[in-house]
Amino acid sequence: MPQQDRSNVNPSESGGFGSKLGFVLSAAGSAVGLGNIWRFPYLVAKYGGGLFLLIYIILALTFGFALLITEIAIGRRTGKSVIGAYKSINKRFSFLGWLAAFVPVIITPYYCVIGGWVLKYLATFISGNGEISAGDGSFFSEFIGSSAQPTVFFVIFLAITALVVMLGVEKGIERISKFMMPLLVVLTIGIAIYTLTLKGAGEGLKYYLLPNFDNFTFSTLLKTIAAAMGQLFYSMSIAMGIMVTYGSYMRKQDSLERSVRQIEIFDTGIAVLAGLIIVPAVFVFSGGNAEALNKGPGLMFITLPNVFQSMAGGQIFGTAFFVLVALAALTSSISLMETVVSIIMEKFHVKRIKASIITLIICFLLGMLSVFGYSAWKTVELFGMQFLDFFDFISNNIMMPIVALLTCALIGWVTKPVYIEDEVLESEEKFRSRKLHAVMLRYVCPVCMIIILITPFVTEI
Ligand code: PFF
Repeated sequence: MPQQDRSNVNPSESGGFGSKLGFVLSAAGSAVGLGNIWRFPYLVAKYGGGLFLLIYIILALTFGFALLITEIAIGRRTGKSVIGAYKSINKRFSFLGWLAAFVPVIITPYYCVIGGWVLKYLATFISGNGEISAGDGSFFSEFIGSSAQPTVFFVIFLAITALVVMLGVEKGIERISKFMMPLLVVLTIGIAIYTLTLKGAGEGLKYYLLPNFDNFTFSTLLKTIAAAMGQLFYSMSIAMGIMVTYGSYMRKQDSLERSVRQIEIFDTGIAVLAGLIIVPAVFVFSGGNAEALNKGPGLMFITLPNVFQSMAGGQIFGTAFFVLVALAALTSSISLMETVVSIIMEKFHVKRIKASIITLIICFLLGMLSVFGYSAWKTVELFGMQFLDFFDFISNNIMMPIVALLTCALIGWVTKPVYIEDEVLESEEKFRSRKLHAVMLRYVCPVCMIIILITPFVTEI
C-alpha cells in the first residue's frame, strides 16, 4: 500500500495533521461554512421546511457518507494532491484530477468576496452601527454596488486565509481549527438557545421541523431532492478536491470511518442549528409570515439585520452571529485555498510560501471579477448571470456533479469499492458501512448525480 508520499513537495513544508482530533476539526472546519449558515436555512425555507430537512439528513447519512469517505480515503491512500491522486489511481482518469482541481480555483475567489461581505457586516455590528444595515436592503446594495469597500474587505479576508495557509497544515490549519471550531459550536448553541426563548419562536420552529405537504407534487419532490443533493456537495466540500487533499495529510493510524462520521455529524449538526437560529428569528420578526424567509441569498444580508434591529440586545446578538459566520467562512476558505496551493506545490515543485503567493494573486484577480460584477461592470453578463453567480453556477451545478459522477465510475466500477475498503482497513478491524458504501457508490450516487444534472431541464419542461 503506498504510504503518504509528499516527498516531492518537501514533506517538512507540506506536513500533515498531528492528531485525529486536529484532522476531524480541520475537515469539519472546511465543511462548516457559508453553506451551513447562509445557504442551508434559505433552502429549508424555500423547499417546504421539515421535508427538506428530512431528505437532507437521510442523504447526508448515506450518499454524503459514501462520497466523503471515498474522497478522504483516496487522499490518504495516494498521499497526493487531487491531480496526482487521480492520476496514480488510473492514468486514463488523470483528466478527472484536473477537472476537480479547477473547482476550487473557481470557488476560492468568489467565496472570499462573500467572506469580505461578512467582514463588512461584522465591522458594522462591532462598531455599534448594526442598525444602519437594517431597512429595505439599500445598505447591502449600496455596499456591493461600490467597488472600493467590497475590494478592501475582500482583500482582508483573502489575506487572512493566505496567511494561515502559508503557516502550513499543522501550524496553520490544524492550530486555527482547534481553536475556532469549539468556539463556533459554543456560539451556535448559545445563539440558538437565545432565539428559541424569543416570544413567537415556536411557530417558526414548527415550520422548520414539520414537513409541509401543501402544493406537493412529483416535480416539487424531484426539485427538493436535487436541491438537497446539491447542498450536500456544497456543505460537505465534496467533489472539489478538498477532502482528497485533507485526506492526504491524515495519519494512517487514525480511524477513517469514525472520522468521517464525526465530520458529517458536525457539518449537519451546525446546519440544523443555523436553521434553528434563523427560521424562528425571522418568524418572530415577521409576525409569523413565512414569506419573509423567501429572500434567497438576501436572507443573511438583508432580512437578518432587520431581525436583529427589532430584538432586544440585537446589537450583541448580531455581532455574535457575524463572528460565527466569519469563523465558519474562514476555515472553509482556508481549505479551498490549501487545495490549490497543494496542487501548485506538487505540480511545479515550488515551496509553500511561493505557492501561496501565486494562489493569492490568482484569487485576487479572479475575485475582482466578482467584485466588479456587482459594481463597475454591472451590465456585463455571462449567460444572463453576473460573474459571481456564474462562477457559483458552473462550479456547483455542473462541474461538481460531473466530478462526483466520474469518481463513482472510477471507484465503483474501475478499481471497485475494494480500493476504498482496503484503505479503511488500514486503521480498522472492520469497515462497518462497507455494503452501504459499495451500493451507494456503484448504483445510488451515479443515479443521483444524473438527477442533479438533468433536473433543471426536466423541471423546465
Ligand atoms: N463547505 C463549505 C461551505 O459549506 O461553505 C465550503 C464550500 C466549499 C462552499 C465549496 C461552497 C463550495 F462550493
